[in-house]
Amino acid sequence: MAQLDYIKKVREILDDRKKSDGLERYVYVLTFGCQQNEADSEKLLGTAISMGYLKCDDPKDASLILVNTCAIREHAELKALSVIGQFKHIREKNPELVIGVCGCMTAQTHRIDELKRRYPYVTFTLDPSEMSMLPEILYRHFTQKKRIFALGESKDNIGEGLPVYRENDIKAWLSIMYGCNNFCTYCIVPYVRDRERSRSKSAILDEAHMLVENGVKEITLLGQNVNSYNGECDFADLIDEIAGIEGDFLVRFMTSHPKDASDKLFEVMKNNPRIAKQFHLPLQSGSDRILRAMNRRYDREKYMSLITKLRDLMPDITITSDIIVGFPGETEEDFEDTLDIIRRARFDMIYSFIYSRRKGTPAAEMEDQIPREVQNARFARLLELQNGIALEKNEAMVGSVVRVLSEGESKGNDGVFVARTEGNKIVHFTDFDGTSKGKFVNVKITRAEPFVLHGELVK
Ligand code: 5AD
Ligand code: SF4
Repeated sequence: MAQLDYIKKVREILDDRKKSDGLERYVYVLTFGCQQNEADSEKLLGTAISMGYLKCDDPKDASLILVNTCAIREHAELKALSVIGQFKHIREKNPELVIGVCGCMTAQTHRIDELKRRYPYVTFTLDPSEMSMLPEILYRHFTQKKRIFALGESKDNIGEGLPVYRENDIKAWLSIMYGCNNFCTYCIVPYVRDRERSRSKSAILDEAHMLVENGVKEITLLGQNVNSYNGECDFADLIDEIAGIEGDFLVRFMTSHPKDASDKLFEVMKNNPRIAKQFHLPLQSGSDRILRAMNRRYDREKYMSLITKLRDLMPDITITSDIIVGFPGETEEDFEDTLDIIRRARFDMIYSFIYSRRKGTPAAEMEDQIPREVQNARFARLLELQNGIALEKNEAMVGSVVRVLSEGESKGNDGVFVARTEGNKIVHFTDFDGTSKGKFVNVKITRAEPFVLHGELVK
């Protein structure tokens, strides 16, 4: 049976319950991890709402709690497990409560076993490739009254056509593909999100048209490696078509793998004013030896040639990166090589991570795991260097007028509005009329910090 049929069946069950006690049923969704997970959660929430649940912001009010987990680093898993542990008390007060643990953590058998044994109040798990099967799993739980782990046989990989609930009406995530084929040796993603599969071009374009018609001003195309998109066209053609939709909006994308970033894409970006001049290009390490051990399939030279090309073509482009510190076998010299690239590439921002050993990945078995103190010390040096560069780059913008997308008043910061530049930098500014939310406006930059620019609205 298709998931849309299960939606109807669950709706009937919930309607009966509501009729018998006159009470609404609420859903609470908690999300850990990356943008892909946030996009998945919008689908989970949309699906739950279509089954008759109302959205709530306090787990104590919920009849259905969905925790969308991340497995990229150990810290993310421990945080999720600790929160799931706290739901025990809510469940004790409400025996009807259904708790579903979804996402990357639940694609690992050792975590499923742990959830089964140590968290008896967890009702089901749904790994990323089962996520569209929420209606079916709920129906099976309601009719068979049992806990369900690892659906197995009936996996539906893409889940086209399920409802999506988007909280933000200014910015939207748009998944174009799922999974990863790259098997970087440190990374759990290929194991928990399976092999690459692309959505069809027509489904993506329909969704993009719908978003633009609804007034969305920024669309971010999502995939683990968008450059290997292959659904009737390549990624450069896809983004070119999306950016060709009539309307006042920007389109961004993440993430690109340096081994696949193509000249064709760079040209399309340069020639298309609706494509934001921003590039996230994960370096991971600046040492050729470590890049080989990571199975990244590019070297320092190739990476720097991409940076040079991007800057030659688009001088104002914002470039950001991911760096891992303390990968097994990383020597002081390897780390110096990373710092050297940081100095030369002059990223606007980096996301830096201390290497986290992930069970089942090749790097977890490598000898010479780096002691925590050494990782911490290198991490601090990396941050210090990068913060200085980020500040210098932001200071160079002081005095200029930039076009930004206003996201509205900042929470808990009276009268201050938040916006993003085309390069995705955060800007805080004063908007005395308070009418800028959801619009592209011009702001004069008056002051810079490493992670925030400050400015004034220019009328
Ligand atoms: N440890 C630390 N960082 C990791 N990343 C992926 N796997 C690990 C790991 N095991 C980082 C990479 C990737 C980003 C999303 O997370 O830098 O680009
Ligand atoms: Fe992980 Fe590498 Fe795939 Fe990115 S490209 S998700 S780092 S395996």
